[in-house]
Amino acid sequence: MKSTFVRNDDLSLDMPLDSDVFRVPPGYNAPQQVHITQGDYEANSVIVFWVTPDEPGSRTMIYWAENSELKNRVDGLVVKYKYFNYTSGYIHHCTIKDLEFDTKYYYQVGTGKASRRFWFITPPKSGPDVPYTFGLIGDLGQTHDSNQTLTHYEFNPIKGQTILFVGDLSYADDYPFHDNVRWDTWGRFIERNAVYQPWIWTAGNHELDFAPQFANAVVG
Ligand SMILES: [Fe+2]
Repeated sequence: MKSTFVRNDDLSLDMPLDSDVFRVPPGYNAPQQVHITQGDYEANSVIVFWVTPDEPGSRTMIYWAENSELKNRVDGLVVKYKYFNYTSGYIHHCTIKDLEFDTKYYYQVGTGKASRRFWFITPPKSGPDVPYTFGLIGDLGQTHDSNQTLTHYEFNPIKGQTILFVGDLSYADDYPFHDNVRWDTWGRFIERNAVYQPWIWTAGNHELDFAPQFANAVVG
């Protein structure tokens, strides 16, 4: 399909740190940067990620099928990392397996007042004539134009069900010491979509964090 969209000649600037799209969800230790990806090749598994800023908090996620009373609990893993002068929050990931195809599931992360609830719809079982719509995004970054790009996708009448993200995510590496705070803002920025549909990732050149000049470089 062809778009009439022509990109602007001026380079768009990154949105400032206090932009509404980067807002931290309210409540102590509230899960943020919540997003999902496909968990296996059959597409009946989903991995949920979230970050708790203050302490690890609960590793447990609750999920249930829309048409079911049965609430399932599953425990995930928590990691944190340092990158030069940056220390991450507590990064949770949790895999849900053996989901029904073509079914709406609700899921809830965090506890008490700071808990947050979302949903996703699993794809139909794959086959030769099964329709399914992928969105394709790359080089998103976090400029004012990035916000427009994501909005274009969200408002496209042909509703994408899963995003294939073809690399170059946050562009945090444009900052001194690859300022990983810009990974957190990016995670909060894309949450509005990636929390409801899987984003399937590949890494681009901007994801190569090997930087020997920082002395303690890691590949992130
Ligand atoms: Fe790129």
